[in-house]
Amino acid sequence: MPSTTNKLSGVLPMIVARDIRKRFGVVDVLKGVSLEVDRGDVVAVIGPSGSGKSTFLRCLNHLESIDSGAVVIAGETLVSTDAAGVCRYAQDTELRRICRKMGMVFQQFNLFPHLTVLQNIIEAPITVKGLARATIIPKAEELLRKVGLLDKRDSYPSRLSGGQKQRVAIARALAMEPDIMLFDEPTSALDPELTGEVLRSMRQLAEEHMTMLVVTHEMAFAREVSTNVVFMDEGEIVEARPAGEMFASPEHPRTQAFLEHML
Ligand SMILES: Nc1ncnc2c1ncn2[C@@H]1O[C@H](COP(=O)(O)OP(=O)(O)O)[C@@H](O)[C@H]1O
Ligand SMILES: [Mg+2]
Repeated sequence: MPSTTNKLSGVLPMIVARDIRKRFGVVDVLKGVSLEVDRGDVVAVIGPSGSGKSTFLRCLNHLESIDSGAVVIAGETLVSTDAAGVCRYAQDTELRRICRKMGMVFQQFNLFPHLTVLQNIIEAPITVKGLARATIIPKAEELLRKVGLLDKRDSYPSRLSGGQKQRVAIARALAMEPDIMLFDEPTSALDPELTGEVLRSMRQLAEEHMTMLVVTHEMAFAREVSTNVVFMDEGEIVEARPAGEMFASPEHPRTQAFLEHML
């Protein structure tokens, strides 16, 4: 839950982002973003283009470095900033281990074109986690069945539709057994008729209580699937509320204007 007020006591948040600041050149892209996500929460991040949503997600798993603030993942400090304002990341091995708790799905799938669907899924578990092929292959097949693509096991990505590619990307992220899944506009590159199949896989994941942070323009998904909605604008979280409340009665005029435009 994004606010600290109604957090269940004794439950360790899966994501704590505290006063994250990030600038690119002279542009303040994140102006002090704070968010807490509890285990099993599905948080939709909405907001206009350029508001810093992708950058925020990328700061959580160190695809971008922050300038100051703190990120704590399932109780482990990825990065913190001391009283003198010096920002320190965890040591390499530790850093990689913490980042591996998060799987990420991008707008542009990023599948390896020269590998089959199955090879795409087992690559990281083998090379990064050192799992044996015999261990990971049945698991990969189970994940493919789950996203409805077992029959595409030996196909190359070029033979798949965008929706199928994105479901493979989801299966590939899940094969690393993350505790958290980050999605950055997973359906934005898809033809409208293909978004449903991807959203269904995400909804299923939510029903299995995966902790999810989802940047999306799919307001129906945000309303129906997410537990909480965060509205970002100009590098700040303007409003963070339970999904029902956010859509029924957004408080901030900027949130109201955005939702009116989107719905
Ligand atoms: N690598 C980068 N270098 C310079 N500016 C960047 C970079 N990435 C993002 N930005 C800028 O940061 C701002 C926020 O971008 P982004 O996080 O992609 O927003 P959103 O995902 O909400 O559309 C934009 O002004 C964008 O141009
Ligand atoms: Mg973006």
